[in-house]
Amino acid sequence: MNKALPRAGTGDIQIRAAVSDDLAALLHIENDAFSSDRISRRSFRRFLDSPGARILVACGDAGVYGYALLLLRCGTALARLYSLALDTGHRGQGVGAALLKAAEAAAFEADRIVLRLEVRADNRAALGLYEASGYRVLGRVANYYEDGCAALRMERLLHGPDLGSGRAPYYSQTTDFTCGPACALMAIRHFDGTFPTGPLQELTLWREATTIYLAAGHGGCGPFGLANALARRGLSAEVRLSPDGPLFVSSVRDPEKRKVLILVQEGYRAEAQMLGVARSGHPLDAPALAERVSGGAMAIVLISGYRMFGEKTPHWVLVHDADDRHLILHDPWLGHERHESPADAANLPVPFAEFDRMARWGRDGVRAQILIRKEP
Ligand SMILES: CC(C)(COP(=O)(O)OP(=O)(O)OC[C@H]1O[C@@H](n2cnc3c(N)ncnc32)[C@H](O)[C@@H]1OP(=O)(O)O)[C@@H](O)C(=O)NCCC(=O)NCCS
Repeated sequence: MNKALPRAGTGDIQIRAAVSDDLAALLHIENDAFSSDRISRRSFRRFLDSPGARILVACGDAGVYGYALLLLRCGTALARLYSLALDTGHRGQGVGAALLKAAEAAAFEADRIVLRLEVRADNRAALGLYEASGYRVLGRVANYYEDGCAALRMERLLHGPDLGSGRAPYYSQTTDFTCGPACALMAIRHFDGTFPTGPLQELTLWREATTIYLAAGHGGCGPFGLANALARRGLSAEVRLSPDGPLFVSSVRDPEKRKVLILVQEGYRAEAQMLGVARSGHPLDAPALAERVSGGAMAIVLISGYRMFGEKTPHWVLVHDADDRHLILHDPWLGHERHESPADAANLPVPFAEFDRMARWGRDGVRAQILIRKEP
């Protein structure tokens, strides 16, 4: 908790973890910055002692100028910026931005990949800071504050400080049912830098691999269909699937559609055998996947979209790199309604434990992976 943090890089301001001696300064800043919804002395004391909270303070020659309060909920990949405030004399000098950066770094260090916050809809300075720092508005909560003011809920995906450009090129899916083909395109392009990528190639792969039906809309792609498409393009593909059997059947109500969905997948399995696609009933856990990926493989992995973007749809992502604590993935889905850019969805570092939680789908906890290599 009291670990020293790097200097903020704003002149002689230093950012460090708060200690109990900072309590009076924290209360002074709180009273200076807010006229309602203030954090009490007792609450500050509790936060200072709580393993699920981090308070960072920005200090200079004249003492403590501001603080950021971060809450880390156990078992989730989310961190919440509960409060950020400076005393009046130190605003507009980059200290708020530096504290925000330090809070993001502390959340990332604690294996959180999303930082969320609420801000008064009429707080121009704070909104300016969050927008300039890459936060997107998720929604509006009416009557959130004591005086009836609405809050805007915002979030940002956290990227590590030293992520490179990524081993695989990023490609964003152009329809809501082509996450699998978009991942396959990125992998093919990684192994063959001349392979063309675009909506036509994406739809061609989809036509080769689709389960035809899924929930209410178009079918997505299954693991054998995708592996076959990759094998046909000269790559070595291995499907790891558990439990064994056709996927997504529970998502389709109509029995006729179910029959089609099962039949198509049986066809892909038979074809996989002819194409020499390897198969295993044992999906790899995150550290084992990291080892494979570090050894030169790519992996297309089925995840539940729930932990990533709050929807329980099945979703394919590409794991293309790893470090000793994270798998690094490209999520082909850009939340266009949230104005995401590839910077939000490419090179996402996901902590091992979090990845193992998100990489299962549906009531049966299906785990599906396609490991891809290019044989010399
Ligand atoms: C909100 C607050 C933390 C911002 O900190 P700050 O140190 O003043 O902000 P910075 O100097 O780091 O500014 C960073 C960016 O924020 C934006 N910003 C800051 N003040 C702004 C203002 N008054 N109007 C519009 N945008 C503003 C700008 O984009 C700025 O970047 P720029 O200087 O390159 O233009 C600070 O003003 C504060 O403590 N306010 C009172 C408490 C509060 O409202 N907390 C937020 C609770 S959610």
